[in-house]
Amino acid sequence: MEAFEHLLAAAGESVLRPDEVREIIAAARDAINVFDFEPVAERNLSPAHYTYLSMGVQHEVTLRANRSAFDLFKLRPRRLVDVREVDTSMELLGTKLSSPIVLAPVGSQKAFHPEGELAVARAARSRDHLQILSTSSSTELEEVVDARGAPIWFQLYTPGIWPATRMQLREAEEAGCPAVALTVDNMSTIWGQNRDRIRRYRRDDNAECQSCHQSFTDDLLDGTISAARAVGFDLGKRFDNMMILDWDYLDRIRDATSMKLLVKGIVTREDASLCIEHGVDGIVVSNHGGRAVDSGLSTIEALPPIVEEVGGRIPILVDSGFRRGTDVFKALALGADAVCVGRPYLWGLAAFGQEGVEAVLGILRSEFETTMKGMGTVDLASIGAEHVLSAGPACQVAG
Ligand SMILES: Cc1cc2nc3c(=O)[nH]c(=O)nc-3n(C[C@H](O)[C@H](O)[C@H](O)COP(=O)(O)O)c2cc1C
Repeated sequence: MEAFEHLLAAAGESVLRPDEVREIIAAARDAINVFDFEPVAERNLSPAHYTYLSMGVQHEVTLRANRSAFDLFKLRPRRLVDVREVDTSMELLGTKLSSPIVLAPVGSQKAFHPEGELAVARAARSRDHLQILSTSSSTELEEVVDARGAPIWFQLYTPGIWPATRMQLREAEEAGCPAVALTVDNMSTIWGQNRDRIRRYRRDDNAECQSCHQSFTDDLLDGTISAARAVGFDLGKRFDNMMILDWDYLDRIRDATSMKLLVKGIVTREDASLCIEHGVDGIVVSNHGGRAVDSGLSTIEALPPIVEEVGGRIPILVDSGFRRGTDVFKALALGADAVCVGRPYLWGLAAFGQEGVEAVLGILRSEFETTMKGMGTVDLASIGAEHVLSAGPACQVAG
């Protein structure tokens, strides 16, 4: 293969990176890597829905950094290890997983396929992956739990009105969710932050929109708005309520629930330290897939100082930009316990429904296992800091 690439280069042909190949595949089984699903998703979706799926904030610097930063980390494989069998199983906050690859919470999945969250749950079931369901799910929590056939985790956006928050927590507990991830990177700020893309996103671009969307806000913060309404508050078009969240509010949530509490959206060692001080059970290092704050660090760069700060006291999940088995391996080698993926499984969903999600999970899993074999690691415990080198100028906090 290398020789082939050299020949092409010598002939003056450019060698495409796999994520630049834009060939449209006809079936999920034709995919070679997860990027193959994106052009199919783009073809299948309305411009508005594809924009919702793909966009980052403002100039999308964080979005791009999430991908390019993986190249700053290089792998150091060890040799002469019997790797015929590799074991990717683990336990995360009491939940047994057969793989550290987790489905990140994503809102409004019926925007990508009519079966939405149910197709994802069925794929998670057949491939045995942990699913985290968004507050903004377009399918009822109980139905998703039924389709998954095993406990799922719940992601919480809350309107910051205590009776509503308590009700949301109770509903998740009653549905059997063992863990809740409170998202704190304030998605409410994204809308209006990417004017170029939003121009395409406008509702009135597509006359069909009103049949699914009653209003611009209704589907964006669906569960948040309905939780507020259920306790007699009308948030109307205001997004500000989520900005009320602070560490005191987090304490209240922690004290009010029997579920394990994770905080999703941590990118600094200071906040990781506060999470531990406030009795949080787990952290998701995330910049919301480049959708929270622009000009931020990639999460693979943000991870090492957080790992150092946490010192193994609580599990660390990480997401944003993970597309290849080597990406997953690098995160684990840098000290993460598990990796969540967002857009790749949505591309699969939009392209081929449940089958597409299954194919994406299958590809990620097989790439990860192949990487483990190549690296001479037989189980997750054998993946360590010695397997990765930072090859770029490391970003340091000034001062
Ligand atoms: C279309 C879309 C909707 C999302 N909705 C939510 C959500 O409802 N709750 C949440 O906590 N994160 C949400 N996220 C963020 C994901 O959970 C995750 O952090 C992100 O997608 C990871 O980056 P990746 O897409 O590059 O894998 C969403 C992301 C996308 C792309």
